[in-house]
Amino acid sequence: MESIEEFKKAYLISDQDIEHLRSLKTLMEKHQDEFISKFYDYILKFKDVSNYLSDEETVARHKDKVKMWFVKLFDGNYDEEYIRRIHKVGETHVRIGLPGHYVNATMNFVRRYCFKLLTDEYGCSRQRDLLANSVDKILDLNLDLMTISYREEELRTFILPRRLEYNVVEFARRFAFSLDLFLLFSLIITSLFVLTYLGYEVYNITIGEIGIEGGILKILGTLLIIWAIGELLNAEIHHLKGGKFAVTAFLTLAIAAVIRKILIATLTTEKVVDILTLGGIVLSLGVVYWLISHSEKG
Ligand code: HEM
Repeated sequence: MESIEEFKKAYLISDQDIEHLRSLKTLMEKHQDEFISKFYDYILKFKDVSNYLSDEETVARHKDKVKMWFVKLFDGNYDEEYIRRIHKVGETHVRIGLPGHYVNATMNFVRRYCFKLLTDEYGCSRQRDLLANSVDKILDLNLDLMTISYREEELRTFILPRRLEYNVVEFARRFAFSLDLFLLFSLIITSLFVLTYLGYEVYNITIGEIGIEGGILKILGTLLIIWAIGELLNAEIHHLKGGKFAVTAFLTLAIAAVIRKILIATLTTEKVVDILTLGGIVLSLGVVYWLISHSEKG
């Protein structure tokens, strides 16, 4: 799935749109009960609605969740976590077999409801039009995210029985998430080891075990590794929140490790040719880094 930045770019969601949406939060919060009541009046007219909203408990849960979704439209926090959550709503609708047409039609109802509120509040004014424009964008973004699962469903060929396949995919997803968590903890432990090693190097300089010049170069090399691990940790956190994994973070770590080796090699009697080879490796990694980040931007 695209990142939030790509979605914002596609729907031309600017900082000003975000400000507009935030400014509407109080108004929308005030009307959330009226909204959910009209939303339900609307969706209860769909044919076979009791197939999906089968008992009081489900209806009560759905009402709460839809209300929460409505208010969050005006939070102004549209990050990776936000798109992951909305995508999940689409997955739930697909899983219960809700026709995509119902979601599209209901979103049209939500749009009309919001526009009417804006007209009641701001009259027919330029301010109302600007606000409506921003509401339009966030609702379109939500509809897009909620219907991704329907499009995936159309393309999917089921090999196993449908329900079993959902369970297998869900299990695989949770497993992948656990692996990511494991990676995160391992990185934290590794960084603690490197920090201890840094302390050891400082100690060695203090007791005169290694010279000041060599010690400083070694410390710089270790700091470089700590910085690269920090980058990797940030990339992993971003990934856990639903963003794309930045392969470049691994390259950063590799570059830092080789630079550290060069720093240490200059202190020892290492041959010039070895140092040049390490330099060549840094250069190649740098070119790969540039190519990847360039293609991601493009
Ligand atoms: C704009 C349209 C809609 C929005 C924003 C919306 C929002 C939501 C949200 C936020 C959830 C919870 C998802 C989760 O936590 O995994 C949900 C689930 C659900 N939705 Fe909708 N929904 C919409 C349309 C509909 C319609 C038209 C129906 C039925 C006619 C429906 C029936 C359900 C049901 C049965 C669930 C599962 C409830 C449960 O068991 O907890 N939704 N929806």
